[in-house]
Amino acid sequence: MMKPIPIILDGDPGHDDAIAWVLAKSSPLLDIRAVTSVCGNQTIEKTTYNALRICTLIGCRAPLGVGRPRPLVAQPIIAPTVHGKSGLDGPVLPEPAFEPCGLDAPALMEKVIEESDEPVTLVPTGPLTNVAALLLNRPDLKPRIARISLMGGGIAYGNWTPAAEFNILVDPEAAKVVFESGIPLTMAGLDVTEKALVFPEDFERVRAVGNRVAQVVADWLEFFYGFHRSLGYPGAPVHDAVAVAALIRPEILTTKDLYVAIETEGDYCKGTTVGDMYGVTGKAPNATCILDIDRKAFVDLLVEAVKQYD
Ligand code: BDR
Ligand code: CA
Repeated sequence: MMKPIPIILDGDPGHDDAIAWVLAKSSPLLDIRAVTSVCGNQTIEKTTYNALRICTLIGCRAPLGVGRPRPLVAQPIIAPTVHGKSGLDGPVLPEPAFEPCGLDAPALMEKVIEESDEPVTLVPTGPLTNVAALLLNRPDLKPRIARISLMGGGIAYGNWTPAAEFNILVDPEAAKVVFESGIPLTMAGLDVTEKALVFPEDFERVRAVGNRVAQVVADWLEFFYGFHRSLGYPGAPVHDAVAVAALIRPEILTTKDLYVAIETEGDYCKGTTVGDMYGVTGKAPNATCILDIDRKAFVDLLVEAVKQYD
Protein backbone atom coordinates (compact mmCIF):
# COMPACT_ATOMS: atom_id res chain seq x y z
CA MET A 1 0.00 0.00 0.00
CA MET A 2 1.47 3.36 -1.03
CA LYS A 3 1.72 6.12 1.54
CA PRO A 4 -0.98 8.72 0.79
CA ILE A 5 0.16 12.07 -0.62
CA PRO A 6 -0.29 14.88 1.92
CA ILE A 7 -2.35 17.63 0.28
CA ILE A 8 -3.93 20.98 1.04
CA LEU A 9 -7.18 21.77 -0.78
CA ASP A 10 -7.50 25.49 -1.55
CA GLY A 11 -10.62 26.61 -3.38
CA ASP A 12 -13.56 28.96 -3.88
CA PRO A 13 -16.45 26.45 -3.82
CA GLY A 14 -18.16 26.52 -6.30
CA HIS A 15 -19.77 23.38 -7.78
CA ASP A 16 -16.67 21.96 -9.43
CA ASP A 17 -14.46 22.77 -6.43
CA ALA A 18 -16.96 20.85 -4.29
CA ILE A 19 -16.82 17.85 -6.63
CA ALA A 20 -13.01 18.02 -6.64
CA TRP A 21 -13.09 17.82 -2.85
CA VAL A 22 -15.52 14.88 -2.90
CA LEU A 23 -13.06 13.12 -5.22
CA ALA A 24 -10.06 13.96 -3.02
CA LYS A 25 -11.71 12.82 0.20
CA SER A 26 -12.79 9.54 -1.41
CA SER A 27 -9.27 8.52 -2.41
CA PRO A 28 -6.97 6.46 -0.19
CA LEU A 29 -4.10 7.90 -2.25
CA LEU A 30 -4.59 11.35 -0.71
CA ASP A 31 -4.32 12.63 2.85
CA ILE A 32 -6.09 15.99 3.25
CA ARG A 33 -4.06 17.92 5.84
CA ALA A 34 -5.95 21.23 5.52
CA VAL A 35 -8.66 22.98 3.57
CA THR A 36 -8.54 26.69 2.76
CA SER A 37 -11.07 29.04 1.20
CA VAL A 38 -10.33 31.84 -1.23
CA CYS A 39 -12.44 34.62 -2.73
CA GLY A 40 -13.28 33.95 -6.33
CA ASN A 41 -16.60 32.48 -7.36
CA GLN A 42 -18.10 34.39 -4.44
CA THR A 43 -16.99 36.57 -1.54
CA ILE A 44 -14.70 35.04 1.08
CA GLU A 45 -17.63 34.87 3.55
CA LYS A 46 -19.67 32.78 1.12
CA THR A 47 -16.88 30.52 -0.12
CA THR A 48 -15.82 29.85 3.49
CA TYR A 49 -19.38 28.99 4.49
CA ASN A 50 -19.64 26.70 1.46
CA ALA A 51 -16.29 25.09 2.29
CA LEU A 52 -17.49 24.34 5.82
CA ARG A 53 -20.76 22.86 4.53
CA ILE A 54 -18.98 20.69 1.96
CA CYS A 55 -16.51 19.40 4.53
CA THR A 56 -19.38 18.67 6.89
CA LEU A 57 -21.18 16.73 4.15
CA ILE A 58 -18.17 14.63 3.16
CA GLY A 59 -16.84 14.07 6.69
CA CYS A 60 -13.62 16.02 6.19
CA ARG A 61 -12.48 17.46 9.50
CA ALA A 62 -9.06 18.74 8.46
CA PRO A 63 -8.44 22.25 9.82
CA LEU A 64 -10.05 24.91 7.66
CA GLY A 65 -8.37 28.29 7.18
CA VAL A 66 -10.18 31.38 5.94
CA GLY A 67 -8.52 32.83 2.88
CA ARG A 68 -7.59 36.32 1.80
CA PRO A 69 -10.65 38.54 1.30
CA ARG A 70 -9.38 40.00 -1.97
CA PRO A 71 -6.77 39.42 -4.68
CA LEU A 72 -3.19 40.66 -4.15
CA VAL A 73 -3.57 43.72 -6.38
CA ALA A 74 -6.65 43.45 -8.60
CA GLN A 75 -10.22 44.31 -7.71
CA PRO A 76 -12.31 41.23 -6.82
CA ILE A 77 -14.43 39.58 -9.53
CA ILE A 78 -17.15 37.12 -8.53
CA ALA A 79 -19.15 34.65 -10.63
CA PRO A 80 -22.78 34.51 -9.43
CA THR A 81 -23.92 33.83 -12.99
CA VAL A 82 -22.05 30.51 -12.91
CA HIS A 83 -22.49 29.26 -9.33
CA GLY A 84 -25.51 31.28 -8.14
CA LYS A 85 -25.98 33.89 -5.44
CA SER A 86 -24.71 31.58 -2.68
CA GLY A 87 -21.71 30.49 -4.75
CA LEU A 88 -23.05 26.95 -4.51
CA ASP A 89 -26.72 27.04 -5.50
CA GLY A 90 -28.70 23.82 -5.84
CA PRO A 91 -29.20 21.08 -3.25
CA VAL A 92 -29.72 21.81 0.44
CA LEU A 93 -26.50 21.16 2.37
CA PRO A 94 -25.92 20.45 6.05
CA GLU A 95 -25.06 23.44 8.21
CA PRO A 96 -21.38 23.56 9.27
CA ALA A 97 -20.57 21.10 12.05
CA PHE A 98 -17.33 22.90 12.91
CA GLU A 99 -15.64 26.28 12.69
CA PRO A 100 -12.56 27.66 10.93
CA CYS A 101 -9.37 26.92 12.85
CA GLY A 102 -8.34 30.50 13.63
CA LEU A 103 -5.32 30.73 11.32
CA ASP A 104 -5.83 32.42 7.98
CA ALA A 105 -5.22 30.35 4.84
CA PRO A 106 -1.54 31.23 4.20
CA ALA A 107 -0.72 30.78 7.90
CA LEU A 108 -2.46 27.40 8.01
CA MET A 109 -0.64 26.27 4.86
CA GLU A 110 2.63 27.40 6.43
CA LYS A 111 1.95 25.44 9.63
CA VAL A 112 0.94 22.26 7.80
CA ILE A 113 3.96 22.40 5.49
CA GLU A 114 6.36 23.04 8.37
CA GLU A 115 4.93 20.23 10.49
CA SER A 116 4.73 17.67 7.69
CA ASP A 117 7.28 14.87 7.67
CA GLU A 118 7.34 15.02 3.87
CA PRO A 119 6.76 17.67 1.18
CA VAL A 120 3.12 18.68 0.78
CA THR A 121 1.15 19.00 -2.47
CA LEU A 122 -1.13 22.02 -2.90
CA VAL A 123 -4.35 21.71 -4.91
CA PRO A 124 -5.63 25.20 -5.69
CA THR A 125 -8.90 25.32 -7.61
CA GLY A 126 -9.63 29.03 -7.32
CA PRO A 127 -7.62 32.21 -7.73
CA LEU A 128 -4.03 31.75 -6.52
CA THR A 129 -4.11 34.52 -3.88
CA ASN A 130 -3.50 32.35 -0.81
CA VAL A 131 -0.75 30.31 -2.42
CA ALA A 132 1.04 33.44 -3.66
CA ALA A 133 0.75 35.05 -0.22
CA LEU A 134 2.35 31.95 1.30
CA LEU A 135 5.20 31.93 -1.24
CA LEU A 136 5.86 35.66 -0.89
CA ASN A 137 5.93 35.44 2.89
CA ARG A 138 7.84 32.16 3.23
CA PRO A 139 9.92 31.51 0.09
CA ASP A 140 12.09 29.23 2.23
CA LEU A 141 9.23 26.71 2.29
CA LYS A 142 9.31 26.12 -1.49
CA PRO A 143 11.44 22.94 -1.22
CA ARG A 144 8.82 21.58 1.23
CA ILE A 145 6.10 21.87 -1.45
CA ALA A 146 6.19 18.75 -3.63
CA ARG A 147 3.89 20.05 -6.35
CA ILE A 148 1.08 22.48 -7.07
CA SER A 149 -1.71 20.77 -9.02
CA LEU A 150 -3.96 23.64 -10.01
CA MET A 151 -7.01 24.38 -12.08
CA GLY A 152 -6.48 27.57 -13.98
CA GLY A 153 -5.65 29.11 -17.30
CA GLY A 154 -5.89 27.73 -20.78
CA ILE A 155 -3.19 27.57 -23.42
CA ALA A 156 -5.60 27.89 -26.30
CA TYR A 157 -8.27 30.30 -25.05
CA GLY A 158 -10.10 31.81 -22.08
CA ASN A 159 -13.58 31.68 -20.64
CA TRP A 160 -14.00 34.95 -18.73
CA THR A 161 -12.41 36.99 -21.49
CA PRO A 162 -11.53 35.60 -24.92
CA ALA A 163 -7.95 35.14 -23.69
CA ALA A 164 -8.19 34.58 -19.92
CA GLU A 165 -9.62 31.88 -17.69
CA PHE A 166 -11.48 33.00 -14.54
CA ASN A 167 -9.09 31.83 -11.79
CA ILE A 168 -6.05 33.44 -13.39
CA LEU A 169 -7.90 36.59 -14.43
CA VAL A 170 -9.15 37.21 -10.87
CA ASP A 171 -5.61 37.38 -9.49
CA PRO A 172 -3.02 37.52 -12.29
CA GLU A 173 -0.29 38.88 -9.98
CA ALA A 174 -0.73 35.87 -7.71
CA ALA A 175 -0.64 33.52 -10.70
CA LYS A 176 2.63 35.10 -11.82
CA VAL A 177 4.17 34.45 -8.40
CA VAL A 178 3.07 30.81 -8.54
CA PHE A 179 4.13 30.14 -12.13
CA GLU A 180 7.54 31.74 -11.51
CA SER A 181 8.06 29.94 -8.19
CA GLY A 182 10.13 27.05 -9.54
CA ILE A 183 7.87 24.58 -7.72
CA PRO A 184 6.71 21.66 -9.94
CA LEU A 185 3.33 22.69 -11.37
CA THR A 186 0.54 20.71 -12.96
CA MET A 187 -1.85 22.97 -14.83
CA ALA A 188 -5.37 21.70 -15.47
CA GLY A 189 -6.44 24.48 -17.82
CA LEU A 190 -9.47 24.88 -20.06
CA ASP A 191 -7.65 22.86 -22.76
CA VAL A 192 -8.48 19.74 -20.74
CA THR A 193 -11.21 20.81 -18.33
CA GLU A 194 -13.61 21.66 -21.14
CA LYS A 195 -13.15 18.04 -22.28
CA ALA A 196 -13.95 16.76 -18.76
CA LEU A 197 -17.62 16.95 -19.65
CA VAL A 198 -20.50 15.38 -17.79
CA PHE A 199 -23.84 14.68 -19.47
CA PRO A 200 -27.26 13.80 -18.00
CA GLU A 201 -26.67 10.04 -18.38
CA ASP A 202 -23.47 10.50 -16.36
CA PHE A 203 -25.02 12.40 -13.48
CA GLU A 204 -27.87 9.90 -13.40
CA ARG A 205 -25.21 7.17 -12.92
CA VAL A 206 -23.88 9.20 -9.99
CA ARG A 207 -27.37 9.67 -8.56
CA ALA A 208 -28.12 5.95 -8.86
CA VAL A 209 -25.35 5.20 -6.37
CA GLY A 210 -28.00 6.32 -3.94
CA ASN A 211 -26.18 7.67 -0.89
CA ARG A 212 -26.48 11.29 0.29
CA VAL A 213 -23.15 12.46 -1.17
CA ALA A 214 -24.01 10.84 -4.53
CA GLN A 215 -27.36 12.64 -4.63
CA VAL A 216 -25.82 16.01 -3.79
CA VAL A 217 -23.06 15.55 -6.38
CA ALA A 218 -25.67 14.60 -9.00
CA ASP A 219 -27.65 17.75 -8.12
CA TRP A 220 -24.52 19.91 -8.34
CA LEU A 221 -23.72 18.38 -11.73
CA GLU A 222 -27.27 18.92 -12.93
CA PHE A 223 -27.13 22.58 -11.85
CA PHE A 224 -23.76 23.04 -13.56
CA TYR A 225 -25.02 21.28 -16.68
CA GLY A 226 -28.06 23.57 -16.90
CA PHE A 227 -25.92 26.70 -16.71
CA HIS A 228 -23.41 25.48 -19.28
CA ARG A 229 -26.09 24.31 -21.69
CA SER A 230 -27.54 27.82 -21.57
CA LEU A 231 -24.19 29.08 -22.86
CA GLY A 232 -24.04 26.47 -25.62
CA TYR A 233 -21.65 23.98 -24.00
CA PRO A 234 -22.55 20.36 -24.83
CA GLY A 235 -22.14 19.26 -21.19
CA ALA A 236 -20.89 20.39 -17.78
CA PRO A 237 -17.11 20.88 -17.62
CA VAL A 238 -16.06 19.68 -14.16
CA HIS A 239 -12.92 21.85 -14.29
CA ASP A 240 -11.58 21.59 -10.75
CA ALA A 241 -11.89 17.82 -10.41
CA VAL A 242 -9.21 17.44 -13.10
CA ALA A 243 -6.60 18.95 -10.73
CA VAL A 244 -7.37 16.11 -8.28
CA ALA A 245 -7.60 13.44 -11.01
CA ALA A 246 -4.06 14.44 -11.99
CA LEU A 247 -2.85 13.18 -8.62
CA ILE A 248 -4.83 9.95 -8.41
CA ARG A 249 -5.36 8.85 -12.05
CA PRO A 250 -2.63 10.51 -14.15
CA GLU A 251 -2.83 7.69 -16.70
CA ILE A 252 -6.19 9.04 -17.98
CA LEU A 253 -4.56 12.36 -18.91
CA THR A 254 -2.34 13.58 -21.74
CA THR A 255 0.21 16.21 -20.77
CA LYS A 256 2.90 18.38 -22.29
CA ASP A 257 5.61 20.26 -20.38
CA LEU A 258 5.57 23.92 -21.39
CA TYR A 259 6.98 27.24 -20.40
CA VAL A 260 3.95 29.26 -19.32
CA ALA A 261 4.09 33.03 -18.71
CA ILE A 262 1.32 35.01 -17.03
CA GLU A 263 0.18 38.23 -18.65
CA THR A 264 -0.70 40.73 -15.88
CA GLU A 265 -1.44 43.76 -18.09
CA GLY A 266 -3.22 44.61 -21.28
CA ASP A 267 -6.60 45.60 -22.67
CA TYR A 268 -7.29 42.16 -24.13
CA CYS A 269 -4.87 39.68 -22.63
CA LYS A 270 -4.73 40.39 -18.87
CA GLY A 271 -4.81 37.05 -17.04
CA THR A 272 -3.72 35.00 -20.04
CA THR A 273 -1.52 31.91 -19.54
CA VAL A 274 0.84 32.21 -22.50
CA GLY A 275 2.10 28.71 -23.26
CA ASP A 276 5.20 28.19 -25.41
CA MET A 277 3.99 25.20 -27.43
CA TYR A 278 6.94 25.17 -29.84
CA GLY A 279 9.77 26.21 -27.50
CA VAL A 280 10.28 29.51 -29.29
CA THR A 281 11.30 31.37 -26.11
CA GLY A 282 14.08 28.89 -25.38
CA LYS A 283 12.94 28.91 -21.76
CA ALA A 284 12.73 25.69 -19.76
CA PRO A 285 9.21 24.38 -19.11
CA ASN A 286 7.73 25.47 -15.76
CA ALA A 287 4.42 23.60 -15.97
CA THR A 288 3.09 20.20 -16.90
CA CYS A 289 0.03 21.24 -18.86
CA ILE A 290 -2.79 18.75 -19.16
CA LEU A 291 -4.19 18.84 -22.68
CA ASP A 292 -6.52 15.86 -22.94
CA ILE A 293 -8.50 13.36 -20.84
CA ASP A 294 -10.18 9.99 -21.26
CA ARG A 295 -13.64 11.37 -20.54
CA LYS A 296 -15.26 7.99 -19.95
CA ALA A 297 -12.58 7.04 -17.40
CA PHE A 298 -13.06 10.43 -15.71
CA VAL A 299 -16.79 9.83 -15.32
CA ASP A 300 -16.10 6.32 -14.00
CA LEU A 301 -13.74 7.91 -11.46
CA LEU A 302 -16.50 10.25 -10.24
CA VAL A 303 -18.96 7.36 -9.94
CA GLU A 304 -16.44 5.25 -8.02
CA ALA A 305 -15.67 8.24 -5.76
CA VAL A 306 -19.24 8.73 -4.58
CA LYS A 307 -19.51 4.97 -3.88
CA GLN A 308 -16.91 5.46 -1.12
CA TYR A 309 -19.41 7.40 1.02
CA ASP A 310 -22.03 5.87 3.33
C1 BDR B 1 -12.90 27.95 -12.84
O1 BDR B 1 -13.70 29.06 -12.50
C2 BDR B 1 -14.60 28.74 -11.49
O2 BDR B 1 -15.87 29.28 -11.74
C3 BDR B 1 -14.61 27.23 -11.38
O3 BDR B 1 -14.84 26.84 -10.05
C4 BDR B 1 -13.25 26.83 -11.89
O4 BDR B 1 -12.31 26.79 -10.83
C5 BDR B 1 -13.12 27.61 -14.30
O5 BDR B 1 -12.73 28.68 -15.10
CA1 CA C 1 -13.00 26.89 -8.53
